Amino acid sequence: MKRGAQPVYTPVRPKKEMLMDARVYELLNDQINKELYSSYLYLSFADYYEEEGLEGFANWYEIQAKEERDHALIFRNYLHENGCKVKLLAIDQPDKEFTTFLEPLEAALEHEKYVTSLINDIYAAAAEVKDYRTMKFLDWFIEEQQEEEDNADKMITRMKLFGSDAKALYDLDQENAARVYSVPSPLAAAEEAASVSELSRPRPCGGVFSFTANPGTASLLGRDLAAGKFA
Ligand code: FEO
Repeated sequence: MKRGAQPVYTPVRPKKEMLMDARVYELLNDQINKELYSSYLYLSFADYYEEEGLEGFANWYEIQAKEERDHALIFRNYLHENGCKVKLLAIDQPDKEFTTFLEPLEAALEHEKYVTSLINDIYAAAAEVKDYRTMKFLDWFIEEQQEEEDNADKMITRMKLFGSDAKALYDLDQENAARVYSVPSPLAAAEEAASVSELSRPRPCGGVFSFTANPGTASLLGRDLAAGKFA
C-alpha cells in the first residue's frame, strides 16, 4: 500500500446460516431458560424463609436468585458473541410447598444436581461436534456447579446438625445474612470488555469481525462505522 493511502476493506457479508451446531445452539438457548427458572425457584425459597422469619436464609436465596439470573445472562452473551439469535422462552412457575426449614435446602441440592446434568449434556453435545470454543466456555460452569452442589450439601448438613436448636438456628441465620452478592467473573469480564471496545461486532454464529482502523475513514457494507453500527 502506498504511503498515506487509505486501507482498502473487502466487504464481508455476514453469513445468514448458523455456523454453530444446531443441537448445541438449542441446548445453550434452553439453558438461558433453565437458569432463569433457577432464579425464580430460589426467589420462591427466599419468600418461604422470609415469611417464616428467617431473614438470613432469605438473603442467601435472594443472592442465589441473582446469581442464577447472571448465569442466564452469561449464556445469552455467549450466543450473542457468536452471532446466534436468542429465543427467550416462558418460565415455569415454581410449585414447591414446604413444611420444614430443611425441605428447601434438599430441593436446592436436587435442583443443582439437575443443572449439573444439563451442563454436562451441553458439554457432551459440543464435544461430539468438536466445538472446542463452547467446551471452553462451559468450563466455568462445570466448576461453578461443583461449588453450588457443595454449598447446597453444606446447608443441609448444618441444618440437620443445628436446626432443631433455636439458638443454633439463629446463628445459622445470622451467618446466611452475611452473604453478599458479587458479579460472576464471566459476566464481570464481559461488562469490562464491552466498555473497552465498541468496535468489535460478532458475525452470525461463528467468528468475530473486528478491526483497528480509524472508524472515521472506513466503511463496511455501506454502513457508517463512525456511528458504531454494524448489523
Ligand atoms: Fe446456574 Fe445453580 O446453576
